[in-house]
Amino acid sequence: MSSQDIPEKNLPAAQETEHGAVGVADEQNPFADPGLPPHEHRVQDIDEQAAKRSERAVALMFTLSMVATVAFIVSYVAIPHDKAIYVFPIGHLNALNFALGLSLGLALFLIGAGAVHWARTLMSDEELVDERHAISAPPEVKAKVLADFRQGAKESAIGRRKLVRNTMFGALALFPLSGVMLLRDLGPLPGTKLRHTLWSKGKLLVNMNTNEPLRPSDVVVGSLTFAKPEGLEEHDHEFQTEIAKAALMIVRIQPDDIKDKRELEWSHEGIVAYSKICTHVGCPISLYEQQTHHVLCPCHQSTFDLSDGARVIFGPAGHALPQLRIGVNDEGYLEALGDFSEPVGPSFWERG
Ligand code: FES
Repeated sequence: MSSQDIPEKNLPAAQETEHGAVGVADEQNPFADPGLPPHEHRVQDIDEQAAKRSERAVALMFTLSMVATVAFIVSYVAIPHDKAIYVFPIGHLNALNFALGLSLGLALFLIGAGAVHWARTLMSDEELVDERHAISAPPEVKAKVLADFRQGAKESAIGRRKLVRNTMFGALALFPLSGVMLLRDLGPLPGTKLRHTLWSKGKLLVNMNTNEPLRPSDVVVGSLTFAKPEGLEEHDHEFQTEIAKAALMIVRIQPDDIKDKRELEWSHEGIVAYSKICTHVGCPISLYEQQTHHVLCPCHQSTFDLSDGARVIFGPAGHALPQLRIGVNDEGYLEALGDFSEPVGPSFWERG
């Protein structure tokens, strides 16, 4: 039941106090609004020395926040990624993560703590009752809001306590630099790394399973062979990065069955070499249908026709698999005659 449902004669008489209208509890309305307790002045309200001490404390917190933000930036630049430190009682930690977390946490905490201390000790703490009113805001209300805002600004002492104001602006202005510094983690830019692979003229095609260079006789009609560039070993630091671009699949097709003229020119006696990396989102292709010369990507079923320039005949892939031009060297081994003619793997913006 709302107060509108109570007969007016049963409502307690409203009294006007310095905090607005309040009700008087009686038998019929035991839950009347008792109003606010009398305001008690804080020590800062009556002692300017105490107010000054609070002001210095707030300024100190904002200043320390600035120091913490600078410490964050210095840590990010100066501490090596792999440095470990012992912190009691947690144990061994990555020094960079520890320093970044600590400095960032302190910078935020000190801004918050400074603001809270400022509000609790220096801003006006007088509680006021604002009676409910219509939602629409007539001009006089807007004028009152503006006046209240100005009054609030005045009571917060932001104009008078210049030390607090300036250090707070300093802390707030400096803090976003932490986020700007983190943008560095998006780099370094890839440059031309996505355009090139380890393949170059004269590099032998090495069987991925046996680790032996391939001869044409090793590739028989109907088989699917995976190859990598000569010199790339599994224990190499960059193995995964490089094989993700250079992985090759090799099949032999009767030359008469090859429909694409360039494919035929880039092959050796019907042996064709294509990137194993799907041009949709980069899964390794592994399913070969020897009758049709189709290869299928297991991720989203893109299907490529290896007898026709590896064009897409089904699925979401955007373009054909890049072909590697191959030949045979003086010793009879299959070799690359250059790099892929276009970037391998998924399309990216420069490729259109
Ligand atoms: S990654 Fe090959 S079809 Fe999606």
